[in-house]
Amino acid sequence: MINLGVSRKTSLVTTRQSGAGVRVMIRMILGAAMIPVAAVAWATEDWGMGAANQQIARGAVFSPVSTPASSISTLAWFSLAVTGAIFVVVGGLLTYSVIRFRARPSDQPREPPQLYGSNPIEFAWTAIPLLIVIVLVLTTIRTIYDVQAAAEPPNAIHVRAIGHQWWWEFQYPDLGITTANELHVPLSDPAHPTPTWLRLESADVAHSFWVPRLAGKTDLIPGKINTMWIDPYEPGVYLGQCAEFCGTEHAMMLIRVIVEPRPVFDRWVAAQRLPAAPQAAVARGRRVFESNACASCHAVKGSSARGTYGPDLTHLMSRQTVGSGVATNNLDHLKIWVRDPARMKPGALMPAMNLSDGELNDLVTWMTTLK
Ligand code: CUA
Repeated sequence: MINLGVSRKTSLVTTRQSGAGVRVMIRMILGAAMIPVAAVAWATEDWGMGAANQQIARGAVFSPVSTPASSISTLAWFSLAVTGAIFVVVGGLLTYSVIRFRARPSDQPREPPQLYGSNPIEFAWTAIPLLIVIVLVLTTIRTIYDVQAAAEPPNAIHVRAIGHQWWWEFQYPDLGITTANELHVPLSDPAHPTPTWLRLESADVAHSFWVPRLAGKTDLIPGKINTMWIDPYEPGVYLGQCAEFCGTEHAMMLIRVIVEPRPVFDRWVAAQRLPAAPQAAVARGRRVFESNACASCHAVKGSSARGTYGPDLTHLMSRQTVGSGVATNNLDHLKIWVRDPARMKPGALMPAMNLSDGELNDLVTWMTTLK
């Protein structure tokens, strides 16, 4: 045991040396990892979205603005406080014991006295953790019940949210509206809540609807209907994301929830219900749309296009983004998108349209009138 002191000293020295070695190695690995990361960041075009997304994603799960998200956040902080307190107590006792009762060169070379069968200690380390687990289970069950078993009030807004590879279809069956990727909902006054009830379906594979500031994740499963609800009490735009891997463009299946005061929402509804206004000046573009494959996948109310495979384009220009959040919505980006969607969104199921430059110009000019 006297040797212990010596071997401890040598092991300390080697630990210090290997510690420096490990640090150098970690630095090299991190450095090497940064090369592809930087290359990807440099090679990927931004299409105007980077700053826009950062702006509206700020805070995410830490600043809930809807009851389900806020219940989950409260529960998470409570669990963190309980487990944090356990960590401090256990870590503190451990550190104290390691320092206070460490081996000293003056120690006798024999085993310290061993303690067997202490009923009070065994009772304490069984009962206290059991109580803690019961408290955590009960608070969790209560939160799950509050969020999932909430009764739907009669004035709820109904939305059918359908996940597609790789975009979102939002139908408002009571209002006769179909839109895509950007969900408009009215602001909900906590005194008189007007929540939005979502009926989640999938057109192909499993997706997951997740807007962190509004609610937890809920999956969209083929052949099954799930429901969830949100009651945002602060106006704004909230960014969400498909949260279940669904194929190549899973990462580019963004959701924008636009929460607006009731009068603004009502005006949006009234505008969305109108068909696209026919405009003689852009009739050529409309003919390009109707006579090409566009019309078999997309619908534009007021034209002959009734396709349901892709997003409804009747009020395309009322949306802020193209391709489910891949680019800001403007004439230049629409032109790039229609010419070759895969350039913006590799793997996108919309094919390149192979139009002549003249046709492309006419088509996109007409599209920008779909307000
Ligand atoms: Cu849809 Cu991931």
